[in-house]
Amino acid sequence: MKLLTIIGARPQFIKASVVSVAIGAQDDLTEIIVHTGQHFDANMSNVFFEELGMAKPAYHLNINSGRHGDMTGRMLIEIERVLLAEKPDVVLVYGDTNSTLAGALAAAKLHIPVAHVEAGLRSFNMRMPEEVNRVLTDRVSRWLFTPTAVAERNLRAEGVAAELIIPVGDVMYDVALHYGARVKAEGRILGGLGIKPASYVLTTIHRAENTDVPERLMVIVDALIQVARQMSVVWPVHPRTRGALRQIGCLEKLSQHARLIDPVGYLDMVQLEKYAALIATDSGGVQKEAFFYRVPCVTLRDETEWVEIVDAGWNRLAAPQVVDNLVQTIEGAVGSTGQDVSPYGSGDAAEKIALRLASDLP
Ligand code: UD1
Ligand code: UDP
Repeated sequence: MKLLTIIGARPQFIKASVVSVAIGAQDDLTEIIVHTGQHFDANMSNVFFEELGMAKPAYHLNINSGRHGDMTGRMLIEIERVLLAEKPDVVLVYGDTNSTLAGALAAAKLHIPVAHVEAGLRSFNMRMPEEVNRVLTDRVSRWLFTPTAVAERNLRAEGVAAELIIPVGDVMYDVALHYGARVKAEGRILGGLGIKPASYVLTTIHRAENTDVPERLMVIVDALIQVARQMSVVWPVHPRTRGALRQIGCLEKLSQHARLIDPVGYLDMVQLEKYAALIATDSGGVQKEAFFYRVPCVTLRDETEWVEIVDAGWNRLAAPQVVDNLVQTIEGAVGSTGQDVSPYGSGDAAEKIALRLASDLP
């Protein structure tokens, strides 16, 4: 049974790393990996394949940058070619990027069944490119592997047939359990930066709603400069955000206050997350990892798909609108905790996905 996996963005390499191992353990499944090329810098792509022991993709399409329709359209054309050549029995896609939608759409049009990992998440904000991608991908998928009870409920509310919804838990939790305990406070990036555990705020920003709206990005910058007067701010800067910061003319000012660094590999990121006093982010994955390591988090967005950790008190939503409010929320959250909840499964999501595909495929 041939399974073709389509990935292209940083979080997808991380998610696929555990699922590929689980697929490899099934005698009946063979996996072919296609990298669309959406993320292409060494520290946004290669580093994850190397660190997480992933096989080199069989195909690398080298498609990135440009506008959404342009990028997704080019992916659709090239993925269709690969599917026609490989004739897989199932196409596996992850999350909510343009690579996800292009893969799902190309497969659906060729009547190849689609399996969607991280199905059912919703922000209910159709202005987000990710919401469009995930709603459409779910609509054409045959297996909807949900990470949370909320995701399952969202799909039911949309009228998705119960037999298509398969609750498995969050594959990112699987990865965090695997690597989290191995990463200690000594050495690695903290050693290199000369920063002590629990003495800093970790920040990541990359969402279009923040990077492409100068007023919002300015609020984030000004708030973090204020926070940096009290404690260090460490910020691995996504390439998109570096460009946006440069464009609004505050890259230099910010770099005088915060430790701006290039994107880091997964293990360094785990260390930065685990030992932070607080994480301020607009990333989906980083919000959850903050919770996995029981670090308080402020999410710099209007809404989140991962509502369960907001409800449990580990995460606070703070739309970047007013500098003082943001500073207060960040400083007020340092040292806070939340309820003891476990909404992301048992750390065996990848195995459940592989077992289900192996048993359903003829
Ligand atoms: C994409 C996903 C987003 C996901 C994020 C993970 C879409 C619509 N968005 O956002 O859902 O949360 O990945 O990080 O699919 N760039 C580089 N080098 C790289 C990668 C990107 O310079 O290695 C530049 C690109 O040229 C582009 C910009 O960054 O101009 C944005 O990249 P893109 O992949 O379009 O979106 P992300 O913001 O990374
Ligand atoms: N990540 C990383 N290095 C970084 C920033 C993030 O390894 O410099 C990891 C992070 O630990 C998480 C994933 O990338 O596992 C999140 O990806 P991202 O924030 O790009 O996308 P999102 O989760 O928002 O889709």
